[in-house]
Amino acid sequence: MSVWFVPGDAAARSMGADRVADVLTAQGLEVVRTGSRGLLWLEPLVECAPTRDGVRVGWGNVKAEDVAKGPPTATDASYLGEVEKIDFLAGQDRWIYQRVGVIDPLDPDDFVAHGGMSGLRAALAMAPTAVVEQVLASGLRGRGGAGFPAGIKWRTVAEQAPARHKGQAVDAPRHKYICVNADEGDSGTFADRMLMEGDPFCLLEGMAIAAHGVGADRGVIYLRSEYPDAIRVMNEAIEKARTQGWLGAGILGSDLNFDVTVRVGAGSYVCGEETAMLESLEGRRGMVRAKPPLPAIEGLFGTPTVINNVLTIASVPSILARGADAYAALGEERSRGTQVFQLAGNVARGGIVEVAFGISAHELVFGLGQGTRSGRPLKAVQVGGPLGAYLRADALDVPMAYEALAARGAMLGHGGLVLFDDSVDMAEQARFAMEFCVEESCGKCTPCRIGAVRGVEVIDDLLASDAPGDAEDLLRDLCDVMTQGSLCAMGGLTPQPVLSALDQFPEDFDGGRRGETSAGQGVAHEQAH
Ligand SMILES: Cc1cc2nc3c(=O)[nH]c(=O)nc-3n(C[C@H](O)[C@H](O)[C@H](O)COP(=O)(O)O)c2cc1C
Ligand code: SF4
Repeated sequence: MSVWFVPGDAAARSMGADRVADVLTAQGLEVVRTGSRGLLWLEPLVECAPTRDGVRVGWGNVKAEDVAKGPPTATDASYLGEVEKIDFLAGQDRWIYQRVGVIDPLDPDDFVAHGGMSGLRAALAMAPTAVVEQVLASGLRGRGGAGFPAGIKWRTVAEQAPARHKGQAVDAPRHKYICVNADEGDSGTFADRMLMEGDPFCLLEGMAIAAHGVGADRGVIYLRSEYPDAIRVMNEAIEKARTQGWLGAGILGSDLNFDVTVRVGAGSYVCGEETAMLESLEGRRGMVRAKPPLPAIEGLFGTPTVINNVLTIASVPSILARGADAYAALGEERSRGTQVFQLAGNVARGGIVEVAFGISAHELVFGLGQGTRSGRPLKAVQVGGPLGAYLRADALDVPMAYEALAARGAMLGHGGLVLFDDSVDMAEQARFAMEFCVEESCGKCTPCRIGAVRGVEVIDDLLASDAPGDAEDLLRDLCDVMTQGSLCAMGGLTPQPVLSALDQFPEDFDGGRRGETSAGQGVAHEQAH
């Protein structure tokens, strides 16, 4: 009998996937709940195959009413044909997302049947230093935003002796920690969530590899409270991993002892900053810590701690399984391997694109994303979250890689691209960036805490004035102070969206002409090709 696959991912559930699954199940069909393939505009995307591992065909935007009289057929308008041949998916090179949307996320057998645990097995056959060498050789850089080489961070932690929790007696047990940053606060990003919901064992496998590499015995996933599905799936996966011998004492028969817990954040953007995250994990208010000491030397509870983003850690199993050289062969300059790009905002085809670094922003936005959802001309794309720069729609020829973006005054961040059509007012967006900083600043340092408040006021002055030159000078001065003087990237990068909006879209800041600015400034999909 055919097998039906219905995503249980939160994005698909929000579009009625649960009801579709219920209706198909009530018809006596075999239904497997998977993660999402990341073709979000088609959710719920229902798939069917003759057997569990057979070639799957799919249907997009399936509603419970559509399947009430029976499962969909190849003559339905929603029929998509073979799922892996859909253009959006066919050109992708999935290393992190290889199983997401394919397997039942909480079925250990399904995970292993699709290559799960081969990375950890390979790692356990190596000395810890060799594991760290592999990660170094792969060129993997942190996917949380700063792009710091993961192997160097791991090597630093590996070189430290385990330490007792700060304040504990001298004979207290000594630890090192692997902390996964799953706070995913950037606007337009959802790749951490979808990975955790769609392939949670992959993250646990990556954490166990890291633990072996650096000599850690404890792991923590700092997961934002806004992700209840991911919290549930990760907790269930941890329970199952323990019964499989993938976590706990003597993992896979080796001498690796390592266990993981989920800790839920309380919804503050700045708690994604690694030292604020440590404060939060230690039970205090999420205030940024001054560095040094680096968390790699004195991190959680004062112990040596690896802090990595979900995608960084989830890259590691396939690097170990498929080889660091194969990974390093992808990409350009010091941007090696694959990146999970996320298309969001006013986009016709939003979702997940995992490809090698170097794809152009134009190809992502107009090729895969197909321009705006509204059908109006595209005006701007914000890359890299709320602290990222805006790119003009007619300047998207930039390769998506750390170096190429930096050369344009932009950054990759967590890989999110948020599209805006020509109805957006870029001065409002600049003001919003300052407002966001007012709201989310931890308050520790003056350039950010006070600077952002003054920033909103100066932008208001600039927009109200008929002779905005002085206010603009003041705004640029203020941005300089925030960039140079802030303790962390919250205040330090807020000027990036502000100044990119001002520099790229000066007409939107022109007091006299405001209100007549937007229409016609964007780039239509057809023009763009
Ligand atoms: C304000 C602010 C928010 C951040 N939010 C996140 C986040 O949600 N997730 C994340 O992985 N990194 C976030 N970071 C980056 C972390 O501080 C840190 O660089 C990262 O977790 C390290 O992991 P990686 O090397 O794997 O990227 C944030 C940084 C700042 C300044
Ligand atoms: S820049 Fe802002 S968020 Fe960062 S430490 Fe200073 S006040 Fe806190």
